[in-house]
Amino acid sequence: MTGDRVDLTRLPVLQCWPHDAGPFITLPLVVTRSLKTGKRNVGMYRLQVFDKNTTGMHWHIHKDGSHYFNEYREAGKRMPVAVAIGADPATVYAATAPLPRGVDEMMLAGFLRKKPVVMAKCVTVDLEAPAEAEFVLEGYVDPEELRREGPFGDHTGYYSLADDYPVFHVTAVTHRKNPVYNATLVGRPPMEDCYMAKATERIFLPMLQTVIPEIRDYWFPWEGVFHNIVVVSLHKEYPGHAQKIMSGLWGQGQMSFCKAITVVDRHIDPGDPKTVLRELVSNLDLESDITLSKGILDVLDHSSPFPNFGNKIGIDLTTRFAGEPPRKNRQSLKTAPSTEDLERIIAAQPDGATGFRYLFPELSSREDTANRVLALTVEKSEGRGGKDFAKALFDLTELEMFNIFILFDRDIDLKDGSLMLWKVFNNVDPGRDIHLREGRAVIDACKKGPMDGHDREWPEELTFDV
Ligand SMILES: Cc1cc2nc3c(=O)[nH]c(=O)nc-3n(C[C@H](O)[C@H](O)[C@H](O)COP(=O)(O)O)c2cc1C
Repeated sequence: MTGDRVDLTRLPVLQCWPHDAGPFITLPLVVTRSLKTGKRNVGMYRLQVFDKNTTGMHWHIHKDGSHYFNEYREAGKRMPVAVAIGADPATVYAATAPLPRGVDEMMLAGFLRKKPVVMAKCVTVDLEAPAEAEFVLEGYVDPEELRREGPFGDHTGYYSLADDYPVFHVTAVTHRKNPVYNATLVGRPPMEDCYMAKATERIFLPMLQTVIPEIRDYWFPWEGVFHNIVVVSLHKEYPGHAQKIMSGLWGQGQMSFCKAITVVDRHIDPGDPKTVLRELVSNLDLESDITLSKGILDVLDHSSPFPNFGNKIGIDLTTRFAGEPPRKNRQSLKTAPSTEDLERIIAAQPDGATGFRYLFPELSSREDTANRVLALTVEKSEGRGGKDFAKALFDLTELEMFNIFILFDRDIDLKDGSLMLWKVFNNVDPGRDIHLREGRAVIDACKKGPMDGHDREWPEELTFDV
């Protein structure tokens, strides 16, 4: 269908979440070509259907589709684009794979399928799309045109905020006989996209090891939505090796979005949360194990006061080598109080605390434990943000047997471990929201607002309306 016959509203495009700005094509294979090198890129970027023949083109600024778009913008030329919807799973997956720029995703798809992906020439643009695609949308993006796109219920579990993105003008639609429309639903993990990201975690480990061979394995906890935290096990060979890994990963393709990197020794399975938590609680020295840095953030990060840029944290849990400053002598934390005592202390003060849970008591019951962690729900108010709670908690001698406090919003269920991790990984800006004082920390995993010096809009959490 070309010209006036193009009508995207005939596709069964889903509106997934109640406050989505409209229907979104959620599983598209967006084909473009570099103006400079002629190389093809296939990326997955959601398309908001605006009307019969236009959609948004939501390639984030760090992605290859956007790099090629910049080439066309500099040349002042329209950019031809083809979008395939529906292909075999390996081909669809390949569009999401974080391949280096200039490496063709269809080659990866062929490798995974163990046979080439047959490509067919598009009808109206000089591009090719997988021949077995159910639908192909052909058209162009005008480098001068931007339009508000979003909000959209995203794979972070929050609505990604509305922003200005290029517009895709569809000039032709081709399809198979009786085509089947492909879509996916993303939301708070684990959702459908998690399995594609898990595939990337496994498929890309050997590729990452070609540049950083000392990485033994790594794990992206789902609650970290892949760009927020990675746990890496390292074959450590010299002082500063963990920090070298952090710097390496923060400079490596889409790994550079990672906000937090935790490094453990090679004998530890990074994908075993119990063991990693045990290392954290029994080893972490808040004064010497933390590296703070700055860098790019995934466009979907909402914790930083600045979009796309912000603070990063590296946590080194590896064994100390000669030449590295030793971990401080474990401070002697007094025995944890009983639940009744804690209830009494929290009810009396600090002002604004509404609930608590002593986390990992089985790991930190002894007096020589390095860390003891207390989760608190709090009610922030004007003039009482995370910094103010941190000061109050540090000053409270009755709670000095705890050295790590994690703050959550009042409505958070402190028995739900996955929910708490999701909040910590998504809501904490490591530079602003981790308050440190003499080997103690208050981590503010609450929603941020003006009381925290956060002026950016804070996105809404996803909930179904039925
Ligand atoms: C279901 C799904 C939807 C996605 N939507 C977007 C999107 O809207 N914008 C974006 O930049 N990346 C999105 N991604 C991630 C990219 O597809 C991924 O980063 C890919 O490696 C980008 O390819 P590129 O580097 O060739 O641009 C999505 C991934 C999945 C699995």
